Amino acid sequence: MADAPRAVVDELTVAFGARRALDRVSMELPRGAVVGLIGPNGAGKTTLLRALLGTVRPTAGTVDVHGTTGFLPQLGPGGWDFPLSAADIALQGAYRRAGWLRRPAAADRDRAAAALAAVGMAQHARRQVGQLSAGQRQRVLLARALVQEADLLLLDEPLSGADAPTEAAFSGILGRLRDEGRTVVVSSHDLAWASARCDLVCLLAGHVVAFGPPAEALDAACLAAAYGGQVVDVGGVLVLAPEGHHAH
Ligand SMILES: Nc1ncnc2c1ncn2[C@@H]1O[C@H](COP(=O)(O)OP(=O)(O)OP(=O)(O)O)[C@@H](O)[C@H]1O
Ligand SMILES: [Mg+2]
Repeated sequence: MADAPRAVVDELTVAFGARRALDRVSMELPRGAVVGLIGPNGAGKTTLLRALLGTVRPTAGTVDVHGTTGFLPQLGPGGWDFPLSAADIALQGAYRRAGWLRRPAAADRDRAAAALAAVGMAQHARRQVGQLSAGQRQRVLLARALVQEADLLLLDEPLSGADAPTEAAFSGILGRLRDEGRTVVVSSHDLAWASARCDLVCLLAGHVVAFGPPAEALDAACLAAAYGGQVVDVGGVLVLAPEGHHAH
């Protein structure tokens, strides 16, 4: 069926020992949509992305994905001290499709170069990734994810450390992927970005607090429920209050 969901998550529970990272999470991810995954630290965003990718096994419930998946991992500092260039990293996106043992074809190199250009990194293609800034590395990883040409693209906080031009370029890329019928799930801590750029938002706090268009899923009551009441209305703009702040 042409408009069958891209992915169906049904009563998904993931437990690590006694701790439940996800508790009976259900949702349908449509084709051709940018879905924001929003929630506090420890809400289970990364766990849900990894369950969709298939690298975390459900404790209970099911995850069904129709199509191929691509992943951009949440970045930690360090670990970048290897002798690969930005172009090498982008090209890795083609490996799963091509097979690790095959030499990359010219078409793969063209795709990698196009992806680096799309994220504004063409002029840095030959630089060793250890010499790039954090935001530039993030763009290179986004390029690698784009080269995968996945039906379901899972991006774990791709905008952390991004400057305004990167964010604008990124949003343009998401729009293009959506128009191609791909589904992109983006975890983020940026409520304003999710509100402006996502078709749907899943507000997560171990369980699904809300799922729907941003105006519904990110309303004050839902945010307060997800963030434990630490949401403050400042002149009509919702902001997350720092720990210990009380709105009244
Ligand atoms: N491999 C693991 N082993 C044990 N506990 C884990 C593991 N992975 C995640 N958890 C726990 O599961 C919960 C959800 O973690 P997860 O990384 O999915 O949260 P998150 O929403 O991505 O948070 P953040 O915003 O900080 O990235 C946390 O309590 C975390 O400690
Ligand atoms: Mg995470």
